Amino acid sequence: MAKVVLMEHPLIQHKIGWIRRSSIGSKDFRTMVSEIAMLMCYEATRDLELKDIEIETPICTTTVKELKGKKLAVVPILRAGLGMVDGMLSMIPAAKIGHIGLYRDPETLEPVEYYCKLPEDCSEREVFVVDPMLATGGSSAAAIQMLKDKGVKNIRFLCIIAAPEGVEHMKQVHPDVDIYIGALDERLNEHGYIVPGLGDAGDRIFGTK
Ligand code: PRP
Ligand code: URA
Repeated sequence: MAKVVLMEHPLIQHKIGWIRRSSIGSKDFRTMVSEIAMLMCYEATRDLELKDIEIETPICTTTVKELKGKKLAVVPILRAGLGMVDGMLSMIPAAKIGHIGLYRDPETLEPVEYYCKLPEDCSEREVFVVDPMLATGGSSAAAIQMLKDKGVKNIRFLCIIAAPEGVEHMKQVHPDVDIYIGALDERLNEHGYIVPGLGDAGDRIFGTK
């Protein structure tokens, strides 16, 4: 069974407290989502493997550490996942970026796919799927299935706010995927929104409502 990691870092908690406020406009919301993603990326990459390599300093030869494992990719779930990409890249700038377009049907809450473009060598990469919201879990589970169908084996999922229902769904459907969560909220409401949550993440990032 994969890990479910709840981020306890005070800076992450503080910033999540700010993006929940309805008084925060798109500009500040975007900035803080990006900062949270950067901090979450730092925490979610703690266990990447290192190897020893020999290098020359201006003084002598020495042994230093270098990332050992697979190359990395970041895959945002459109639209709201886009808000986390810059923050992720500020920590792992060499990562390739894929895009998966899904929206949640407002009536059925089922994910509807409309786009998928991934790095050619995606199946050889460690892939970080990002989306600020894990509500029913339908969108993230579908996105991860799309990656698995393309042969991707190493997947981590990062979300800023999760509902217990979504975490359970992900654990059932993708028990091999580690989940990193900024805050675990109480529940979903009758419209499938996370309570207390932060509203519609895509609309808040892009100012569409
Ligand atoms: C939001 C969010 C997730 C999804 C979560 O996207 O960014 O992708 O809902 O809900 P779920 O866990 O119940 O599937 P939305 O469908 O609103 O699309 P958008 O990002 O384009 O606004
Ligand atoms: N998608 C969002 O953007 N917010 C929620 O609370 C649930 C799904």
